[in-house]
Amino acid sequence: MKKRILTGDRPTGKLHLGHYVGTLKNRVALQNEYDCFFIIADLHMLTTKYQDLKTVKQNINDLVLDYLSVGIDPQKSNIFVQSLIPQIPSLFTLFTMLTTVPRLQRVPTLKDVMRDLKIETASLGLLSYPVLQAADILIVRANLVPVGKDQASHIEVTREIAQRFNSLYGEVFPLPEVLIGEVPTLPGIDGKAKMSKSLENAIYLSDDSESVLEKVMRMYTDPTRLRPTDPGHVEGNPVFIYHEAFNKDKEEVADLEKRYREGRVGDVEVKEKLAKALNGFLEPIRAKRKEYEGRPELIEKIILEGSERIQAEGKETLDLVKKAMGLKYFD
Ligand code: TRP
Repeated sequence: MKKRILTGDRPTGKLHLGHYVGTLKNRVALQNEYDCFFIIADLHMLTTKYQDLKTVKQNINDLVLDYLSVGIDPQKSNIFVQSLIPQIPSLFTLFTMLTTVPRLQRVPTLKDVMRDLKIETASLGLLSYPVLQAADILIVRANLVPVGKDQASHIEVTREIAQRFNSLYGEVFPLPEVLIGEVPTLPGIDGKAKMSKSLENAIYLSDDSESVLEKVMRMYTDPTRLRPTDPGHVEGNPVFIYHEAFNKDKEEVADLEKRYREGRVGDVEVKEKLAKALNGFLEPIRAKRKEYEGRPELIEKIILEGSERIQAEGKETLDLVKKAMGLKYFD
């Protein structure tokens, strides 16, 4: 049997190039080898965003469009919405008994989120975020969880809960392994360490070619270089990090880097070539998006079919759980 992968996103907005290099590319590559499950974690979103939910429907639709346009294939992979799977909160309830409040208070992302969002006291939901994530992963008994570095501490909680369950009641769950993407984080167009929606420094997978050109032309480069004849720095320069990540013409990149170091090329040329390369990369993604855009009924069908499959898996898992625990009633 194929091993199972589960990963996903909260529906908080459109995906960008940073998501592509960090995880989407990986997901597309993994879907032939593994049975893949991609969760749209709307309940997780509610842990910090519970007001003004008017955009959620649109966000879920956009997320599925982003998945499909980069090549996640609903024939091979299962895309599903967390809140359509009632077995997840059931499993979550059992899992809350298998970890402790101090353990969850030690999860580093909790402090980060509270600091970033200026939350003084965590809600019970926010504190139990990693327990809900454990339920997402273990409801399909996933073996592998490809995520960004920041999520590793959550997968650790999942493993602890699985281990505790198995030792108390018998082997039901695999101990899922975390798979951290090896690519370095893509910087923002402003040169900040990370491309992010909230920092407003992102190029989106859904941007048209004019916006890509406009964003690239105002991209941060080497601040020590004032004239095109000054020798410039290539290492750590976002324009070249993007060239290396997205420009297929390796000779062009090598030539630009050489001339940049020697002070024989202007930023404008480097950027125009980058915009062209990025648009070349995005073109097939845009074409694929067109196949689904404006067809919400198609997206809906994909979500419902994916979710049905997970519900069936969820029932099976809960049945194993019920038997292992010796519960008479638990569905
Ligand atoms: N917490 C993840 C994030 O913010 C999203 C997520 C929810 C997830 N459930 C998951 C990721 C299960 C992997 C596995 O990125």
